[in-house]
Amino acid sequence: MNRLGRVRASAYPKLTLSLRVLGLRPDGYHEIEALTVSLGQPSDVVEVTAVPHPGGVSFTVEGETEHAPSGLTNLAARAAEDVMLRAGRSGHGVQMVLRKRIPAGAGLGGGSADAAATLVAIRKLLDLDLTDDDLHEVAAGLGSDVPFCLRGGAAWMRGRGELIEPVPLRPGLGFLVALPPFRLATPVVYRAWDELGGPRATREVEARGTVARYVEALANDLEPAAEAVEPALVEFRSSLERAAGRPAILAGSGSAYVVPLERGVDPGALAESVGARLRVPVAGARSNAVGVRLGS
Ligand code: C5P
Repeated sequence: MNRLGRVRASAYPKLTLSLRVLGLRPDGYHEIEALTVSLGQPSDVVEVTAVPHPGGVSFTVEGETEHAPSGLTNLAARAAEDVMLRAGRSGHGVQMVLRKRIPAGAGLGGGSADAAATLVAIRKLLDLDLTDDDLHEVAAGLGSDVPFCLRGGAAWMRGRGELIEPVPLRPGLGFLVALPPFRLATPVVYRAWDELGGPRATREVEARGTVARYVEALANDLEPAAEAVEPALVEFRSSLERAAGRPAILAGSGSAYVVPLERGVDPGALAESVGARLRVPVAGARSNAVGVRLGS
């Protein structure tokens, strides 16, 4: 095996600080405007290995696999196939292992992050003759959130999510990410938003510091829809807000909630005490400069 026979890439989750849903489009997607940041924790790892045979992509997933699709239906496996096809190299043999820590069905874009990391890892593994713009196109074909995950950092997402305008928001913003004991499927939450007549968020969290240069308040228009699909979320959010002593907002289409923290608060220490009180997984996280990092 040559030196480039195996490549690893870390995939980072994403967090919508503000998510406005502007309406249903003729293609069935929703027009959105979302201020989004990459988070440094928890991250997944994609490992790809070039093999002489068999040709094509083989895929296994390990770790926090609950609700994560296995086999070639996983978006990361599809990303590998699509990027090889785009480069005219679909016959190549590639073994993929995905180690999951980002929970699926939480609204943190874990599947999209894995797909983005796969695009970058396979390009390097097979030395594909594809530019960043080519990868962006393949990413947009895979899913609405994959282009943001590929680029990472902080950006406005527009269109159905694939139009990215980078924002010079410094990384290091602190958050708690709390995971209730149930998950939500994005299409179900968007459908509920339609059935409710396209609500605006009923709650807002004050934007502080540099974030306030970009949005007046943190709000998520999918929150009323998610809380209609799963009414137990309302009680979960209240308990989280009491335990953290601060307001929380839904992450993306849920089911995770996020508590934005002031500068000077240690997310890890607060996460530990809030997690112990609520008896659910609570992670401390900081915003990250990238969505994908090559090399583990
Ligand atoms: O693009 P992606 O495949 O990730 O989207 C999953 C589902 O989420 C879509 O099929 C659609 O139901 C919903 N969605 C939407 N509007 C968006 C993004 C996603 O309605 N902007």
